[in-house]
Amino acid sequence: MKKILITGGAGFIGSHVVRLFVNKYPETLIVNLDKLTYAGNLANLSDVENKPNYEFIKADITDGEFILKLFADRQFDGVIHLAAESHVDRSISNPLEFVVTNVVGTVNLLNAARNIWKDKPEGKRFYHVSTDEVYGSLGDEGFFTEETRYDPHSPYSASKASSDHFVRAYHDTYGLPVVISNCSNNYGSFQFPEKLIPLFIHNIRNNKPLPVYGKGENVRDWLWVEDHARAIDVIFHQGSSGETYNIGGHNEWKNIDLIRLMCSIMDRKLGRETGTSEKLITYVKDRAGHDLRYAIDSSKLQRELGWTPSLQFEEGLEKTVDWYLQNEEWLKNVTSGDYQKYYEEQYTKR
Ligand code: NAD
Ligand code: TYD
Repeated sequence: MKKILITGGAGFIGSHVVRLFVNKYPETLIVNLDKLTYAGNLANLSDVENKPNYEFIKADITDGEFILKLFADRQFDGVIHLAAESHVDRSISNPLEFVVTNVVGTVNLLNAARNIWKDKPEGKRFYHVSTDEVYGSLGDEGFFTEETRYDPHSPYSASKASSDHFVRAYHDTYGLPVVISNCSNNYGSFQFPEKLIPLFIHNIRNNKPLPVYGKGENVRDWLWVEDHARAIDVIFHQGSSGETYNIGGHNEWKNIDLIRLMCSIMDRKLGRETGTSEKLITYVKDRAGHDLRYAIDSSKLQRELGWTPSLQFEEGLEKTVDWYLQNEEWLKNVTSGDYQKYYEEQYTKR
């Protein structure tokens, strides 16, 4: 049986990728390796956990010895690497953790893949999942292409940029068969409520202030998480070795406009008078080094591999709001641990 290792499969995007691969490729063993940090949650995968082609390993990618041995024992045919520390605000308070997980963890996986594939790289693939934030910030015009110069500003994006460079270096130096994708902001089910969309749905539901950084004028390009998972499937199977593919939704929103749209959807769903939830909007101190605008040109992926986003944003946002309202138990569970402490530290001093 072919074996694919997916790292970070208990997180937001990883769980959608694991679900897609387990269901779509029943003849392939999907091994999900995850440390289960605050962001990882096995409940995200309850619908596939008993499938015969799924296996979970609780492990830390920063443990180089363990990773080397695991690869030697299991002889994976492919790796899809998503495990990372992923939240910009946390990277501002604790940058070193991002270096250790995102850079050292990635290099450990590269070493292990190189070790088992060095004599027979044919048919093997190391797929590194990255972000558009490595390209820095745009002004009012233009898009990030695969040729845009790296210019990261946050410790998070700097650590992702560094890991991307290592992946390319292993391709160029050792001939490791790699692909990289850089994707825009994802939204959808199972996203930890520290990121904008699930945090604000949660706060609107509970009548808590909506902390808008700065003037709310920053722009993000939002992509439905299941469309990202589909893109990863296409690139993993059909992308060319050594290549980079940008993934985006062609769907730019100014934060404040998106927040107002969320408020109006939530007013309707919760039976509140129009305008009620908008009153929760509270402008707070801006994020340090806050990138103004991200926008992705994903035409290479569309042209070469035929991928396009499937869902209109308004429809996706409605579905997302419905999911969080119908899964309050999930939300309660993931916010029960250290989340309260994080929330206080992040927001009460602002
Ligand atoms: P997430 O924070 O929801 O999940 C990360 C997962 O990695 C968690 O399950 C966590 O337990 C696991 N993990 C963390 N440290 C680990 C370690 N040392 N060893 C093993 N597992 C560990 O993140 P996400 O939003 O799903 O992002 C997944 C990947 O996609 C990341 O690499 C991120 O940089 C990238 N990405 C995210 C977005 C986005 O909008 N969320 C956009 C583009 C790219
Ligand atoms: P986020 O979801 O953290 O994603 P990223 O920073 O990786 O793009 O934030 C999306 C945008 O929303 C970003 O411009 C920061 C802003 N934001 C707020 O205004 N308030 C918040 O509480 C959060 C978490 C984000």
